[in-house]
Amino acid sequence: MATLTIDGLTKRFGTTEAVSDVSFTAKPGRVTAFLGPNGSGKTTTLRILVGLTDPTSGSALIGEKRYQELPQPFHTVGVLLDGGFHPGRRAKDHLQILAIAAGVDETRIDAALEFSEIGYAAKRRVGKFSTGMKQRLGLAAAMLTDPPVLILDEPLNGLDPEGIQWLRRTLRKLADEGRTVLLSSHVLAETEQIADDIVIISRGKLRAAASMDELMNRVASGVRVRTPQAEQAQQLLVAEGLSISNNADDPTCFDVAATSTTVGEKLGQAGITLHELSPLESRLESLYFQLVSDPQPAPRGVDLASAPVPTQPNQEQR
Ligand SMILES: Nc1ncnc2c1ncn2[C@@H]1O[C@H](COP(=O)(O)OP(=O)(O)OP(=O)(O)O)[C@@H](O)[C@H]1O
Ligand SMILES: [Mg+2]
Repeated sequence: MATLTIDGLTKRFGTTEAVSDVSFTAKPGRVTAFLGPNGSGKTTTLRILVGLTDPTSGSALIGEKRYQELPQPFHTVGVLLDGGFHPGRRAKDHLQILAIAAGVDETRIDAALEFSEIGYAAKRRVGKFSTGMKQRLGLAAAMLTDPPVLILDEPLNGLDPEGIQWLRRTLRKLADEGRTVLLSSHVLAETEQIADDIVIISRGKLRAAASMDELMNRVASGVRVRTPQAEQAQQLLVAEGLSISNNADDPTCFDVAATSTTVGEKLGQAGITLHELSPLESRLESLYFQLVSDPQPAPRGVDLASAPVPTQPNQEQR
């Protein structure tokens, strides 16, 4: 099983710096989501990883090696990148050609078709496939050699809700088997349920690289309290060392960075009347938007511990 190591990667196309000094890793047994808006350098990074584009500087390694140096690249890395389909070719023939090139047994073709649940269209011409069907065929091709590493560029694109559920389940299972799964997406919401690790880039620069747990701890822990005894409740919680955010519009309401159990017990013991005690919505999405719109890149090697936590517009930090 192989770790993917991107180190100081830079790629310039003429005057455009598509990727600027990007470093991160994707580890075996984990699903790593590589996120960023359109044109942020995701595809360029993945193409460099699989040897289709040369970097200007820095490196992108699979295990210890560049893709071109792998003794058995087809057997090591399953790749999904845009295109590569001949429209007049039938789905099964497409896989057959790849199977011959990779030197794999023909039985793998049926296994890959079954994996992608696209066996029903095996004899149909790819030119007539819908976007989602092409995506599934691309995934079947990526799985043809049963590789330990999967590098997938926007695999959720074009899938219907059922297809998205299927792919999430499938990628989870593949990572649980010990494989390294790196997938790109421009939509955080698509990947947040399956990603173990998150890498965010924007305009070619790394904005964050952290585990999902770190990210969630950073943004999602907290409860909203509504009480007619707000002042007394806040004094008590601050004395306990908890941090509070006031709601400027409603003096009876404030947020606390703690679990509802902690806050409920402390206020209950003090006999404070509660009108509301509710967990705050995940603010992951707003953190993502803040990171991708922030003109300052994250310093190299620094993760989200240094990233600012977004505050809701109607709140003031006390
Ligand atoms: N072959 C190329 N020649 C010139 N510029 C390129 C080339 N490939 C990519 N670029 C530029 O590099 C930048 C990053 O492109 P890239 O395709 O890597 O972004 P992306 O994050 O994959 O975007 P998307 O979400 O739209 O797929 C863009 O400004 C793009 O125009
Ligand atoms: Mg892309």
